Amino acid sequence: MNNYSEKFEKMRVAGKLAAKTLDMLTENIKEGISTEFIDKLGYEFIRDNGGYSAPLFYRGFKKSLCTSLNHVVCHGVPTTERALKEGDVLNIDVTAIVDGYYGDTSRMFCVGEVSVKANNLINATYESMMKAINILRPGIKLGDIGNEIQTYVESKGFSVVRDFCGHGISNVFHEHPNVLHYGKKNTGIELESGMTFTIEPMINVGKYDVKILNDGWTAVTKDKSLSAQFEHTIGITENGYEIFTKSDKNYSRPPYK
Ligand code: MF3
Ligand code: CO
Ligand code: CO
Repeated sequence: MNNYSEKFEKMRVAGKLAAKTLDMLTENIKEGISTEFIDKLGYEFIRDNGGYSAPLFYRGFKKSLCTSLNHVVCHGVPTTERALKEGDVLNIDVTAIVDGYYGDTSRMFCVGEVSVKANNLINATYESMMKAINILRPGIKLGDIGNEIQTYVESKGFSVVRDFCGHGISNVFHEHPNVLHYGKKNTGIELESGMTFTIEPMINVGKYDVKILNDGWTAVTKDKSLSAQFEHTIGITENGYEIFTKSDKNYSRPPYK
């Protein structure tokens, strides 16, 4: 036992529900459905499994999850006006609250066949997140995380979005520290056991610049290039880390088979 085991137990429960929600959605993603329908499925699943969707009414957000299509970087707002079509790449970002604690996770989904470029982007984004997760343990610095992601992503010719970052998370949705997805080794605060935060790199085919649409939420790439993202909620343990938002079905990245 240690002084964070109760917190970790609650993070595990919330993280598992968020991951299960994405697992459920995986079976439902197909050409012709609207992002609003995805929102409804997610909302009901989380509610029916003892949780609440954190984005709903968060700072005026009116939907239960984020659906970010193609050149949308993050915070895409579900709508009936957009049906999925062949070649689309979609990020679905789910945050569940259970017993006051938060589990925040996102994955990419492909509709039918997608371009080679899109597949490469998705793979590089996933790999960058996992490379960063793999170095986690007490004693490393926050900057080591960003450095790991940036070095890998730029070696593939892609760019790391600067305007959004990972975040501390526990019984608060977004809290200290900011977890940047770029940076220098051996800079920033030192990680300690018991810390809980997200890693959620947003990676673009083109330049890293983003702009926010008039709805006040949807962030898109300025150059309209494709963008991808994955997210896990993680805890730092005595000698490493625990991923709270892992899939029971081993769904990690497309193709989900
Ligand atoms: N889930 C997002 C994150 O990873 C936050 C979404 S806030 C919302 O931090 F209001 F846009 F839903
Ligand atoms: Co997050
Ligand atoms: Co999220």
